[in-house]
Amino acid sequence: MSKLHKVVLNGKVFFARSGQLLLEAALVNGVDLAHDCRAGRCGTCITRVVEGITVGGGTRQAGMVHACQAHVLSDLTLACEPLPPVTAMEGRVAMLVDVAEDVAEVTIQPARKPGHLPGQYYRFTFQGYPARAFSPTESLDGTWLNKAFKLNIKRVRNGRVSSQLGTGIQAGHRVRMLGPFGHAFLRPAQKNRLVLMAGGTGFAPIWAIAQAALREDPFRPVWMVAGVRKLPQLYMGPALELANRFPNVTAIGAVDSSSPLPEFVAAGAPELHLPQLSREDTVYACGGPAMVDAVAAAASAAGAAFYADPFEAAPPDDAMLLNRLGSWLRGAVAGGG
Ligand code: FES
Repeated sequence: MSKLHKVVLNGKVFFARSGQLLLEAALVNGVDLAHDCRAGRCGTCITRVVEGITVGGGTRQAGMVHACQAHVLSDLTLACEPLPPVTAMEGRVAMLVDVAEDVAEVTIQPARKPGHLPGQYYRFTFQGYPARAFSPTESLDGTWLNKAFKLNIKRVRNGRVSSQLGTGIQAGHRVRMLGPFGHAFLRPAQKNRLVLMAGGTGFAPIWAIAQAALREDPFRPVWMVAGVRKLPQLYMGPALELANRFPNVTAIGAVDSSSPLPEFVAAGAPELHLPQLSREDTVYACGGPAMVDAVAAAASAAGAAFYADPFEAAPPDDAMLLNRLGSWLRGAVAGGG
């Protein structure tokens, strides 16, 4: 029989088998440890190992592990930040607006006030379509929307959900929300510089964080970069302009282009516009994995606190998987004569 280890999580005690996954051990013992993907991607389960040894599930932050991937090897003392409870709620699409050639801004009116932290995400299920993860943001002109969900959704060619915005999904469409999830949220009451790096619609959580931080302290130093491939995709122009009106904010659009660019816009990938980082900074990155990895490396080299929300491709839908499995089985049966 494998050895049992004593685990203390935020003062709650449970026992885990040697080698057992930390998240699994917590859940079977009735200890509520926030999680979502169980695959080391979403970051919701990130936990600080105060004392003891785990193996696997490392993160880009020293002493922090993904509980869904970390195996228990000794007695442990752990600390988790308190997170809002995960709940389900219903709502309806209130408005759909194209803010760029490939980005729709979708406003959803929920039946009750959302309770997430700026930067967190929910799973949204538009009735009749598969669930997708999106981070609520705020309006680009700075209007505070604490009662509705505002989403920036990139239209993906043949996307099962995004291609239906404005056709199969219109104002009045029913939506179910599950959440919030995620670890890349704004920590309140801090005074240090925020470095906020976004690629494409990764701007959604970044703008939510920037807005909340500046509401809390209009003098907080913020360096914000929003990257897109082409100038017509730079839907966040009004937000960059608004942010630059704060005394200690630098907000830059980054475009892969060498043609003449307007004010606040520079050429090249977002990571080329990182400031010199120090251990006093708190850095957030949301967007494609290449950008997030580059920013993570710079933050790690500087010893800065780092939180990431990397894009992940939507998983194949069950129906598509079943279709594929059906075709494969039919082919196998036909092939087997
Ligand atoms: S639940 Fe562990 S990273 Fe998503």
